[in-house]
Amino acid sequence: MQIRQPIVVVLGHVDSGKTSLLDRIRGTGVQGREAGGITQHIGASFLPTETIKETCGPLYKKLQESENQVPGILVIDTPGHEVFTNLRARGGSAADIAILVVDVNRGFQPQTNESLKILQSRKVPFVVALNKCDQISGWRKSDTKFITQAIKEQDQFIQTDLDQKIYDVVGTLSVLGYQSEAFYRVKDFKSEIAIVPISARSGVGIPELLAVLVGLTQQYLQKRLDQKEKESRGIVLEVNEEIGLGHTANIILIDGSIKKTDTIVVAKRDSVIITKPKAILLPKPLDEMRDPRDKFKPVQSVDAAAGLKIASPDLEGVLPGSTLYIASNEDDVKKYTKLIESEMKSVFIDTETNGVVLKCDTIGSLEAIVEMLRRSQVPISKADIGPVNRRDIMETRAIKENDRHLGVVLAFNVKILPDAKEESESGHIKIFEDKIIYSLIDNYNAWVSEDTA
Ligand code: GTP
Ligand code: MG
Ligand code: NA
Repeated sequence: MQIRQPIVVVLGHVDSGKTSLLDRIRGTGVQGREAGGITQHIGASFLPTETIKETCGPLYKKLQESENQVPGILVIDTPGHEVFTNLRARGGSAADIAILVVDVNRGFQPQTNESLKILQSRKVPFVVALNKCDQISGWRKSDTKFITQAIKEQDQFIQTDLDQKIYDVVGTLSVLGYQSEAFYRVKDFKSEIAIVPISARSGVGIPELLAVLVGLTQQYLQKRLDQKEKESRGIVLEVNEEIGLGHTANIILIDGSIKKTDTIVVAKRDSVIITKPKAILLPKPLDEMRDPRDKFKPVQSVDAAAGLKIASPDLEGVLPGSTLYIASNEDDVKKYTKLIESEMKSVFIDTETNGVVLKCDTIGSLEAIVEMLRRSQVPISKADIGPVNRRDIMETRAIKENDRHLGVVLAFNVKILPDAKEESESGHIKIFEDKIIYSLIDNYNAWVSEDTA
């Protein structure tokens, strides 16, 4: 067995401390340089084994006992305001495991729930980092980096307070069908979600968090990480035009490898493009891809898992969230072209049947909402990305004549064009607008049951 680096996504509500946590592990200061302290785009950085070893300290010994040790990890930072729906992959998520960051003093917030829904629907295992412990009122500073030790050094009422906060999380998670517990009380890591109190500011708890994460990965995710006979594929995070490089794509290589001589097969909205990379560029270890301290290095090939940039004029118009395959021969090119075409067909819907009309901002959110609507057995007549236009309203109007509960538009994080707005008002077509996936679906379902009652 040859296992690759696990892809670890960090998610949670705005300002829960996702970027600060990664900064603390990497020894970087990305958060301080962000405009308004807000993460705008998904980022990625590679943590080598050495960093895990240093961070975990004496806990690293236990991780070395595993038959299959991970060769570092690839961490993905996400903006709290738009979760991580574009980190998609056929049949699930590009992330192997997640860290759900929760502000200990605020508990679960809208984007915490949103993140959980996505993790649940894509079946991603996760641990909870209960962050900002240093801000618990009365918390005593100490020198230890180990949270189990730091807790012992607190006054009794602080220990009780922390336990209460942990049980609030346990309670919320149990409503959603998860069993969870403070990591030092977990008996079975397979069935219970570990909650690790930490402070990204002081660093306390981070050795345990990383040790739990890597331990889980090495024990339960070997098969997924095994590179034997895996097709080479990735996911497009962002497409840009850069000085001196032209059109580029930031990519997470999930499995396999990419070489300069390989052929890339990737989806656009209405076609599949087949191209060769003009350049493959790799950020340095510990560098955040979206804010590197050093220049990306041109390379001939890269093995998964990795965050990298490719340059090619053909990348113009590729959608973030698109799957990308790497082919080494003609047969592969044909096979992957078909795969992408069928994948796109299942994401974008356009049928004659009665169903709601769904418009979203990205492939990732579209796919997630389609999935959730299917689960609540809501038929869909059309699912696409882009603003709500007049044609959408005309189609909805026709559907409404057959079924008034399906003759509605669900608009996720997109504009409604002026003529569409006019048309919807004159035709009394209901448009549900939202920036949070689950409340979009909840509001629609609530309206249907109210209207039926
Ligand atoms: P978005 O990317 O905007 O969603 O935020 P984020 O989750 O990445 O949070 P970020 O790292 O930007 O931290 C938000 C604020 O919380 C910053 O002012 C941090 O300094 C502060 N912060 C993060 N972690 C801690 C912590 O452990 N303790 C304290 N006291 N403050 C923290
Ligand atoms: Mg951030
Ligand atoms: Na922030």
